[in-house]
Amino acid sequence: MRPHVLVTKRIYPEAVEYLRQRFEVDYVATDEGLTSEELRSRLRGQQAIVSQLTDKFDAGLLETLEGVKIIANVAVGFDNIDIPAATRRGILVSNTPDVLTETTADFAFALLMAAARRVVEADRFVHSGQWRRWTIDLLVGHDVCGRTIGIFGMGRIGQAMARRARGFSMRILYHDAQRAPEAMERELGLEFVTQEELLRQSDFVSLHVPLLASTRGLIGAAQLRLMKPTAVLVNTSRGPVVDEAALAEALAAQTIAAAGLDVFEHEPQVHPLLLELDNVVLAPHIASASVDTRRSMSMMAAENAAAALEGRRPANLVNAELWS
Ligand code: DGY
Repeated sequence: MRPHVLVTKRIYPEAVEYLRQRFEVDYVATDEGLTSEELRSRLRGQQAIVSQLTDKFDAGLLETLEGVKIIANVAVGFDNIDIPAATRRGILVSNTPDVLTETTADFAFALLMAAARRVVEADRFVHSGQWRRWTIDLLVGHDVCGRTIGIFGMGRIGQAMARRARGFSMRILYHDAQRAPEAMERELGLEFVTQEELLRQSDFVSLHVPLLASTRGLIGAAQLRLMKPTAVLVNTSRGPVVDEAALAEALAAQTIAAAGLDVFEHEPQVHPLLLELDNVVLAPHIASASVDTRRSMSMMAAENAAAALEGRRPANLVNAELWS
């Protein structure tokens, strides 16, 4: 009997084909995603699950799983899965790091540029036929080159963001729970500072932390008050890292200049005030969405699932302690 794999939502076809060559695949080839009840019933008899960040695996659901060897998440983030509960149940969890690092940093930098230089406003202005004449202060924004960026989280994507900032001759401040090795600080020209210093000194603040109890609400009203009135906030990490209502108020009152957001507290809902504001660029959680990267993420998750089912160590284990 071939092992059974549930793919909870549409992924790139080559990944499904790869799985079908090896296993019995229950493929939910739609974009809606399964409700938690549907997920619960579809999970019976499966030995592997290829999941996405919209599938919530809480402790209650994980307790009901029998015979599942791995949950292979098609994302680098895994806050949709209760990892300690999965580990207690002996279920491996894998993610898709590295393949999306540069793509995500590209998009974070694109949001930074778009928010600073008002690219989306400019596009709307011209498209809507409002452009009548050149004027000295038409859609003036904020310079990027030579300014100071503050990066929260100096992991893979934070480092990729720093490399881009170096290309723009920026001063690079960072804060992380752990200070980066000296060699990395030297190579990327990083200055480790406190959260408060980062917020006070940066012209651009970019968030690259995972969603953890310690990072939930990292940027709230108090932190926004520390930022410069000309500062731009970029979030491509996870929505709940920022208090969205507090951010909307800060943007509306222009106590900070602008923001570029790819992630939201209650996706796909967006705080209604943000939808009304011109000084925020909004994107639907697409920072890793290049064709090559999304294809690689799909394949990587399929390969992680296959490895676990074939008794090999999956390359991208989150709870690697289960493997020893
Ligand atoms: C991730 O991988 O965690 C992103 O949010 C989606 O690519």
